[in-house]
Amino acid sequence: MTAAQVGTGQLPLVQMTGVTKHFPIQRGVMRRTVGHVRAVDGVDMTIPSGSSMGLVGESGSGKSTLGRLMLRLIEPTSGTIMFEDSDVTRLKARSLRRIRRHMQMVFQDPYSSMDPRSSVGDSVAEPLRTQLGLRGRELDERVADLFRLVRLSPTYRGRYPNEFSGGQLQRIAVARALATNPKLVVCDEPVSSLDVSTKAEVINLLADLQDELGIAYLFIAHDLGVVRHVSDRIGVMYLGRLVEEGDAEAVYSSPKHPYTQALLSAIPVPDPVVQRSRTRIVLEGDLPSPANPPSGCHFHTRCPYVMDVCRAVDPPLAVTSDGTRVFCHLIPPTGAEVLVPPAP
Ligand SMILES: Nc1ncnc2c1ncn2[C@@H]1O[C@H](COP(=O)(O)OP(=O)(O)O)[C@@H](O)[C@H]1O
Ligand code: SF4
Ligand SMILES: [Mg+2]
Repeated sequence: MTAAQVGTGQLPLVQMTGVTKHFPIQRGVMRRTVGHVRAVDGVDMTIPSGSSMGLVGESGSGKSTLGRLMLRLIEPTSGTIMFEDSDVTRLKARSLRRIRRHMQMVFQDPYSSMDPRSSVGDSVAEPLRTQLGLRGRELDERVADLFRLVRLSPTYRGRYPNEFSGGQLQRIAVARALATNPKLVVCDEPVSSLDVSTKAEVINLLADLQDELGIAYLFIAHDLGVVRHVSDRIGVMYLGRLVEEGDAEAVYSSPKHPYTQALLSAIPVPDPVVQRSRTRIVLEGDLPSPANPPSGCHFHTRCPYVMDVCRAVDPPLAVTSDGTRVFCHLIPPTGAEVLVPPAP
């Protein structure tokens, strides 16, 4: 919780504490469990109401699993997930249904997330019917409003998904996610499957809607460039752990964790002088298996600054002077100025 929230006594919208998700690896005809994929490995995360958390990291780092856990689409192995004053992990089916209307998801591929046999108007109307009980004229008007909200003409409502471009269909998926006036929308790589020109259009729409409606986002992407315009804060995941989390501008202008620095150094900067002054950190090798993560700091097998302590000891939490939370042995503990690692 931020200092301001403590002052107003306001609860964060989402508060995850020590959340883990271990998927069993099963082999043989008896489906014997031979190990576990540690997809999410002890994550603490807070999302204030109306604020946007960008979540980045390579493919396989646990981002989608974290998003699904937040909405309790899957059960955590351990940890607590509070949504306002409800512990989502303990809610019984009926209470869970009641808060589901406040938490929705937008998926990567709009063609597979929409029913090809239903008109897009019916797909947008479905949560209004089932979760809010709307019927008749009230339902029709709300569907038309939702089309206008995502900058599409309500005259498209009778058409089918295959009649739309990817960008248009993703906007319809956003309309459906917003139908029940949710407080939280998990956007799981919502622009990754779109072409470059449509990407910007959908990102701008999502950013505008957040301003207009005051929704909170968990906005997942595999690169930092995409999340910049929609995020108040940014979290960086590596092998199931949140390695750095802070104010979006602080993470962009002074990334502290060597993994964040590597991700950022891969994004070209428009200014050639700034571009030349930046140290490019190339990540060697692939992401290790989350079934058998490296000891100590999970990033030690690829880190250009690795020290002996990194292989043996989990890095403790450090909070830097700009409020960034970071897990790296190079960063001095709470309250200290940031130590920027030397070039590798
Ligand atoms: N249902 C599942 N069963 C087993 N392993 C899974 C399942 N879902 C995800 N995983 C594994 O968990 C890890 C994290 O996956 P995911 O959350 O999809 O990462 P990301 O979204 O960052 O690409 C991957 O190794 C993936 O193979
Ligand atoms: S703890 Fe060590 S290995 Fe991990 S990121 Fe920091 S310097 Fe690199
Ligand atoms: Mg994913």
